[in-house]
Amino acid sequence: MSVSKDAVDDNEILGVLRGVMDPELNDNIVDLGMVRSASLKGQTAQITIALTTAGCPLRATIKRDCESRVKSLPGINEVQLYWDELTPEERTRAMDRARRNARDTAAPTQIPSSARVISIASGKGGVGKSSVTVNIATALASRGLTVGILDADIWGFSVPRMLGVNSRLNARPAQSEEDRGKIIPEERPQGSGLLKIVSTGLMVETEETALMWRGLMLAKAVEQFLHDVDWGDLDYLLIDMPPGTGDVQMALARLLPQAEMLVVTTPAVSAQKVAIRVADMARRSHMPILGVVENMSAFTTPDGTSWPLFGEGGGKRLAEEIDAPLLGSIPLEPAVSAGGDTGQPVAMSDGPASRAFHQIATRIVEEIAPPLDMAACSASALNEVPVSLTGDRTS
Ligand SMILES: Nc1ncnc2c1ncn2[C@@H]1O[C@H](COP(=O)(O)OP(=O)(O)OP(=O)(O)O)[C@@H](O)[C@H]1O
Ligand SMILES: [Mg+2]
Repeated sequence: MSVSKDAVDDNEILGVLRGVMDPELNDNIVDLGMVRSASLKGQTAQITIALTTAGCPLRATIKRDCESRVKSLPGINEVQLYWDELTPEERTRAMDRARRNARDTAAPTQIPSSARVISIASGKGGVGKSSVTVNIATALASRGLTVGILDADIWGFSVPRMLGVNSRLNARPAQSEEDRGKIIPEERPQGSGLLKIVSTGLMVETEETALMWRGLMLAKAVEQFLHDVDWGDLDYLLIDMPPGTGDVQMALARLLPQAEMLVVTTPAVSAQKVAIRVADMARRSHMPILGVVENMSAFTTPDGTSWPLFGEGGGKRLAEEIDAPLLGSIPLEPAVSAGGDTGQPVAMSDGPASRAFHQIATRIVEEIAPPLDMAACSASALNEVPVSLTGDRTS
């Protein structure tokens, strides 16, 4: 069979490029908006591809795949690839698409779809993720909300201690052959709301026993917390992340594509490197960043003198760097760590750190990530606006 050269047009090149996947975003490069141009000059295909970041490690894979697919078209014997980078707007669009895809294909978990899922992460350890998690959860619950806390720090759990919970989790026995039974979260009333807590710390006898779990795959343990726990109703699920940017983060992003991220940082301006790591982690896991919480900000003595022991400006700088709002700054305050040690989170009493946590909770509920039921209300309220403006309720 002889094939004339002009049997192939630019659209056919785009057609085969639809077979080239970005393995991280799990979609093809054309629909992700990464193909800037594709045209045929003689027997040479000239293609420009914009990557999520210029240094994208997948470049070589994408190149190989593009070349072999395009060369499979009749009449093409050379492929010239040019590289470019997506603009921030294009990257946001590509991420949105990847997120939607992930949501459509994710296996269902026990997390109700009406729950707002917020993972609390940081680029490095010890900055106060767990303290921020339990205190924001406490502040949210005291507003009457039902808040789940998933301690995803499987070995280094600290949520049970910080909330003063030392009971063991109960299980509901299997009710049918398909039903494997469910773990019941530990419940703790808080104000007019409720905390539901799940942690490996509530399953093992001692921290030493937890270390014996090293053989267990971390991601598997987290998966079990999402599939085998009877979470019931939740307005929010806060996830206390382990330090670092490894397996657990990726597993959670895969299992809970609806998750959004809150980034915790200290005020040290060396947050620059951390910013890049966190932004990269969010990019790889397609998680939108809700905002930044600066923790361990200036300590204020009773006479009003402010002591910025851990530096200043890190939260603001990080927020600018990753283009997310700074939700608040929690001062360095002995009551925060004392609250963590006695199991009475500082947000249960009054003081500067407590007020800062409550203000952040207010911003989350009212502005940044309202409970989904409420969001649905405001969305339907917004839909009413054009209707009432035109007075046409029938179309
Ligand atoms: N604002 C604060 N003021 C005083 N102490 C604090 C403050 N925030 C956290 N701490 C203390 O700092 C230590 C580390 O905090 P925390 O355990 O919350 O950090 P983390 O980021 O979860 O750590 P890891 O990465 O190990 O999980 C704890 O002892 C905690 O009590
Ligand atoms: Mg922690």
